[in-house]
Amino acid sequence: MTTLKQGEFVGSLDCGTTSSRFIIFDKHADIVAQKQLEFPQYYPEPGWHEHDAEEIMDVCNTCIDEACKDLETAGWSKDSVKVIGITNQRETAVAWSRKTGKPLCRAIVWDDSRTKNVVAHYEHKLATTGLELDGSFRKGDEGIKALRKVTGLPISTYFSAIKLRWMINHHEEVRNAHEEDDLLFGTVESWIVYRLTGGLEGGLHISDVTNASRTLLLNLHTLKWDKTLLDFFDLRPSILPKIASSSEVYGHIKGGTLAGVPIGGLVGDQQGALVGNKCLKQGEAKCTYGTGAFLLFCTGPDIVESQHGLLSTVAYQDGPGSKPFYALEGSIAVAGSAIKWLRDSMYMVTSADQVNTLAASVPNTGGVYFVTAFSGLLAPYWDPGAAGLLIGLSSYTTPAHIARATLEANAFQTRAILESMKLDSKTDLKHLKVDGGMTNGDKVMEILADIGGFDVIRPEMRESTALGSALLAGSAIRLFGWDISKPETLAEVNTRGNKTFNPNMPETDREKRWQGWQRAVERSRGWEE
Ligand code: G3P
Repeated sequence: MTTLKQGEFVGSLDCGTTSSRFIIFDKHADIVAQKQLEFPQYYPEPGWHEHDAEEIMDVCNTCIDEACKDLETAGWSKDSVKVIGITNQRETAVAWSRKTGKPLCRAIVWDDSRTKNVVAHYEHKLATTGLELDGSFRKGDEGIKALRKVTGLPISTYFSAIKLRWMINHHEEVRNAHEEDDLLFGTVESWIVYRLTGGLEGGLHISDVTNASRTLLLNLHTLKWDKTLLDFFDLRPSILPKIASSSEVYGHIKGGTLAGVPIGGLVGDQQGALVGNKCLKQGEAKCTYGTGAFLLFCTGPDIVESQHGLLSTVAYQDGPGSKPFYALEGSIAVAGSAIKWLRDSMYMVTSADQVNTLAASVPNTGGVYFVTAFSGLLAPYWDPGAAGLLIGLSSYTTPAHIARATLEANAFQTRAILESMKLDSKTDLKHLKVDGGMTNGDKVMEILADIGGFDVIRPEMRESTALGSALLAGSAIRLFGWDISKPETLAEVNTRGNKTFNPNMPETDREKRWQGWQRAVERSRGWEE
């Protein structure tokens, strides 16, 4: 029997929307072992999207087990994993029972838009009753402003409190559990930590500041659950997890392959990618193209209140009591999921890569625009009533034009967000760092640079989300001397190099296409069947 070597590695559990993965990194962010598994997606009605929280947990455990087996096959003992971080799809709401530790209903996923009526109810409440801020009730536009000031967010189907309210209103088990004080609520990282640290008996009930900042219940300034907001949404405080920073030892894994290993990092996946891209200073930005696309611009210790449809959010807090860093964010609900739709629902391609080849086979979209508003439009439009729209079709149109228009939709929405960021931050971004599954194809990157009119920088090692949570976890125990508050300690991390895509489209063409996109968006809005 060969003796396994002892090393020092950091693990990252990345629980995304369609798959989970466990990646084990060394001190340079080289991947030593990994396992990724998809889990079922449930779409019971148009606009609905659900997950089974038990299935997410099972897949996470299997990924940890399989990646550790690979680590051992590579000759390393699993005791070499010194700490793990967790990063996750944000806003997805999980409700479970304090008594049994089991989910009370399926989780409602971040891009689910069934909650339009809940949104309408609270918009009305904001307009009529208002929200208490600094001792007085603000109503109407003042109420909307007050909510933004406290949470950084608008009322939207996107955020967790709205989803939780829907669960309480529509699922008897959840309603009863809320009344009987048996309900525990959390986003996905909260659920995973609860189970990893305690199994069915239940462990820590915590959430990190980045995930908490996506609920509509966190006060961005105090980093505490806000009583006014809980009252506004009629929620009991005891259902909420305790808020923690993004980098500290919260507890240890109970049982299983990595029993006893500390959990040292918790971060929403988009903030994770910001950290993983080392965008740790004011003015640095990244966009991650996964199921959706998320552009985050670090604003440092200042909360910048957007006047142009962006969100203010917590970027990370590098330890309990540390000063948080904030970000402006623009979220696009449909990015990679449009490609999945072309593959799985339209049968236009058999693999995601083929979309790039197909799009590259034509020089332009032949006048086609595709507004991929499958569940309304998020930033900067915030229109739950917008509908998916393909326009400019003719007998000339082929699947290649539609494939290209799908990639362009992504680029147009990125540009729309960057235009808003420019206005809010008074900074003109000359380049954008990108990562995520959709960035693997060169064609999609060229289209992004052409439509956007900026340089697109793609790193060679693109597991930035997982790397971000690994950096936060490593930093919590000062593994490899990492310290998020001192970016120079990360100089040796992920130095593998980048590929830059420069814009090649003539400015007049770019502007013409941009005008066309804006007209297409206008037509997609306000559509009711
Ligand atoms: O806000 C939703 C986001 O966190 C989902 O990310 O990468 O799982 O699509 P992703």
